[in-house]
Amino acid sequence: MPSSWSPALCLGAWLLLLLLPRLARAEGAGELVPIPITCFTRGLDIRKEKADVLCPGGCSLEEFSVFGNIVYASVSSICGAAVHRGVIGTSGGPVRVYSLPGRENYSSVAANGIQSQTLSRWSASFAVTKGKSSTQEATGRAVSTANPPSGKRLKKTPEKKTGNKDCKADIAFLIDGSFNIGQRRFNLQKNFVGKVALMLGVGTEGPHVGLVQASEHPKIEFYLKNFTSAKDVLFAIKEVGFRGGNSNTGKALKHTAQKFFTADTGVRKGIPKVVVVFIDGWPSDDIEEAGIVAREFGVNVFIVSVAKPIPEELGMVQDVAFVDKAVCRNNGFFSYHMPNWFGTTKYVKPLVQKLCTHEQMMCSKTCYNSVNIAFLIDGSSSVGDSNFRLMLEFVSNIAKTFEISDIGAKIAAVQFTYDQRTEFSFTDYNTKENVLAVLANIRYMSGGTATGDAISFTVRNVFGPIRDSPNKNFLVIVTDGQSYDDVRGPAAAAHDAGITIFSVGVAWAPLDDLKDMASKPKESHAFFTREFTGLEPIVSDVIRGICRDFLESQQ
Ligand SMILES: *[C@@H]1O[C@H](CO)[C@@H](O)[C@H](O)[C@H]1NC(C)=O
Ligand SMILES: *[C@@H]1O[C@H](CO)[C@@H](O)[C@H](O)[C@H]1NC(C)=O
Repeated sequence: MPSSWSPALCLGAWLLLLLLPRLARAEGAGELVPIPITCFTRGLDIRKEKADVLCPGGCSLEEFSVFGNIVYASVSSICGAAVHRGVIGTSGGPVRVYSLPGRENYSSVAANGIQSQTLSRWSASFAVTKGKSSTQEATGRAVSTANPPSGKRLKKTPEKKTGNKDCKADIAFLIDGSFNIGQRRFNLQKNFVGKVALMLGVGTEGPHVGLVQASEHPKIEFYLKNFTSAKDVLFAIKEVGFRGGNSNTGKALKHTAQKFFTADTGVRKGIPKVVVVFIDGWPSDDIEEAGIVAREFGVNVFIVSVAKPIPEELGMVQDVAFVDKAVCRNNGFFSYHMPNWFGTTKYVKPLVQKLCTHEQMMCSKTCYNSVNIAFLIDGSSSVGDSNFRLMLEFVSNIAKTFEISDIGAKIAAVQFTYDQRTEFSFTDYNTKENVLAVLANIRYMSGGTATGDAISFTVRNVFGPIRDSPNKNFLVIVTDGQSYDDVRGPAAAAHDAGITIFSVGVAWAPLDDLKDMASKPKESHAFFTREFTGLEPIVSDVIRGICRDFLESQQ
């Protein structure tokens, strides 16, 4: 019984939490490897009671969204909260995150260069403390090798067959084997790639890597499934011979997207596909088209550019903006520059952090970019205008979490009373900005409630035209009352058509109706709140539900 949680008990649980780290450390290293995260990773992205994470340096303080003070709403950036709390500085570092229950009120406080924002009521929170750097040394196969305590040599870490479970990715290193780089720097490049592979923690349960050499013609040196231990990968990299020729990186990237990432060669389902392209100088061919092909194959392209062309060489460069054109999103995340091949050890860790950041890999299929979500919004008279606005806010808060674009997530909205009105369909708007603007301006209809008819209407008119979409289909129904017609039949037809339904009821909505409409398991697809203001905490429940269902559909 939740009400029996006395403050004393909570305190007990809290103390236990504080004691846990010591117990866990004695047990074994695997759990405590800090997870490399990004500036944007939110509390809700880490689904653990307690986690050790590693924040990168150089996050921009203005871009952090942080809600609360000391206790932060789980939509807040973890690294942002850590800077705000004074746990780390702008150069990043280890942070320990504890999940906490939701709160009614998060306050706004300016601290350490960050102005946190207020938020009224959220379903979960977290707190941050300094991560232990000793933990990092003791267990940091994945992160500590760049800075071994004993000087420059790479520390030999105990080989674990399972690898780094927190970094799941299928990675192709596309190395430069052209005359641009030359034999000598080619060897330095191999050295660097080896260090990256080692720090990634290659293993059966962790990242898998393969290698392709770009030159005149691409050559796949080894596939993902050839070697699944870091030691074997290192050995295989050493064996790769320099080929020489033009720097046909575009051709090699295309070849990698099409021929390297196949089920036959070891690609795993539901795990991000990544190609890390090393370019010394510039490519001799067109890389933009190759970038588009890679995206179509769901491959995340990272460009590591080394040694920019000097002014005298610029005339020979086909396209100076090649880096931005090759990546799926030109937001700085997918590109990386190193001035030359000397002293590259310090670049290993940041690159590994990026490659292990699952939630930023939006170029491959994730729940954020591969779903169609239609909202069926009750516009009946009992709702009233101001509560109708709260419903729209609820819908917007869900919608804005997704990567809306013509190749990404799609959103549609239908309002219903006895009647139905398609406010906008899946293909009408393909930017988040437009979708949110249109949602905010939906006019309230007012009338009766026929939810069954509305479901049939939406299945036919909104989902019908996108029958061939590769995205997974979701319908989120928000209603405040009893339907005058049967909901069971139309909902069953929707389920049969492959549409997963979440039902969200407010005030007078009968629980039986909500359960009849919701997909199975009903408990995790039907939600109820007595008050319209109670919709807000349900936002994250629905988002989590969509992501969970999406992942399950990918298994
Ligand atoms: C929320 O916190 C602010 C500032 O601490 C306070 O003024 C306000 O009354 C609080 N609201 C609620 C609902 O607790
Ligand atoms: C990798 O696996 C493929 C397919 O099983 C095989 O043909 C190839 O020889 C292997 N390559 C290496 C370097 O072991």
